[in-house]
Amino acid sequence: MSKAIQAIRGMNDLLPEQLTLWHRIEHTAESVLAAYGYREIRFPIVEKTELYRRSIGEVTDIVEKEMYTFEDRNGDSLTLRPEGTAGCVRAGIENGLLYNQVQRLWYAGPMFRHERPQKGRYRQFHQIGVEAFGIATPDLDAELILMSARLWRALGIQGLELEINSLGTAAARAAYRQVLVDYLRRHIEELDEDSRRRLDTNPLRVLDSKNPALQELINAAPSLADHLDDESLEHFAQLRDLLDTAGVKYRINPRLVRGLDYYSRTVFEWITRELGAQGAVCAGGRYDGLVEQLGGQATPAAGFALGLERLTELAALQNLSGMEGGPQVYVAVLGNGRVLRTALAQAERLRSEGLRIEFHCGGGSLKSQLKRADRSGARFALMFGENELVKSEATIKDLRRDAPQETVAFDRLMDFFRTRLRASG
Ligand code: HAM
Repeated sequence: MSKAIQAIRGMNDLLPEQLTLWHRIEHTAESVLAAYGYREIRFPIVEKTELYRRSIGEVTDIVEKEMYTFEDRNGDSLTLRPEGTAGCVRAGIENGLLYNQVQRLWYAGPMFRHERPQKGRYRQFHQIGVEAFGIATPDLDAELILMSARLWRALGIQGLELEINSLGTAAARAAYRQVLVDYLRRHIEELDEDSRRRLDTNPLRVLDSKNPALQELINAAPSLADHLDDESLEHFAQLRDLLDTAGVKYRINPRLVRGLDYYSRTVFEWITRELGAQGAVCAGGRYDGLVEQLGGQATPAAGFALGLERLTELAALQNLSGMEGGPQVYVAVLGNGRVLRTALAQAERLRSEGLRIEFHCGGGSLKSQLKRADRSGARFALMFGENELVKSEATIKDLRRDAPQETVAFDRLMDFFRTRLRASG
């Protein structure tokens, strides 16, 4: 036997038992997003490399060392999307969705980054992303944050903490950058190799360094908040006021700079302490310059993306199961011919009424069928046999509670399940 081929490191299979929880999160997200008027958009997984260079930024970690870039057969440089904002903006411009209009869009799907894999960090991972165009005022920033907070509530996820910051306009940031570089140069001896490299390319990222030896130096560095332009300060103050009024708790983190270059003004992250080092579950912000930078008419925009791997891991840690999406009833069949035909017909009828039913195909003993029923996660086993058939009845066993079996007439089945399933929530 030859050696089995394995998946690429950092790229995971998603198995049916995991996907029930994924589906639950995806469906909940879809309905929360729809409640705010966001509509789905789909765009390719592969784009021209140039798109990511121009949007995410030449000297970011993503573009410098994490992209899956290759030449196609025409010799064009293409890249597997490392994130969704760039592709969404490209699609928006190309299809005339952005000019002079308000658009609220969402997308979902796989993203690719050649990072060092570890818990919560993968090379293929999945995002649900949201992008809104055409609104410059901070009520949009507040809407995005409120919408994400509603999603955590709808999912029953607890303990996520919100961090916000303002990066100001590009001009304010450029002025601050010079002040920061001057400061860091005065302390060049104390910097580590990574920070020295960033000093010339992307000095704001030095503030993000996790190196404990640098924390004192970073804490004493000049703060971006002291160099923001007046309009950005006012924008940020209004956002905070809207969040306060809505009762959303947050922490201002002056060191939150994000790893993508397109942001201006608001940036935010939802963070958990329960997942170890990879604590950012959802992140985003405003990017008012990007549409123009990618060749469209100047259009303000803001958005966020959540990481589905991290969110499902957190949901699983908090014991939120995906069983809600699994079968409610498992149909067991004891016999062939008429019994089987009746069972199939009854199962079809109950599905039409809205029940989720797993049907036992292939026969076998009652014991083995009930074992499968138990494993399916269904609440009830619905059993069809010769004796019951004569009276147009079936037997129901509650698989999750210690209760006597009941015999129920076919035309009472739906009432029975409706009442019992409702009673247990
Ligand atoms: P990002 O912070 O790079 O932002 O990614 C957003 C989220 O995707 C992260 O908070 C994390 O949950 C998840 N994520 C990122 N990288 C990985 C990875 N290697 N493995 C697992 N999960 C990961 C963006 O991508 C921006 N496009 C967000 C945005 C949309 N900003 C404005 N609009």
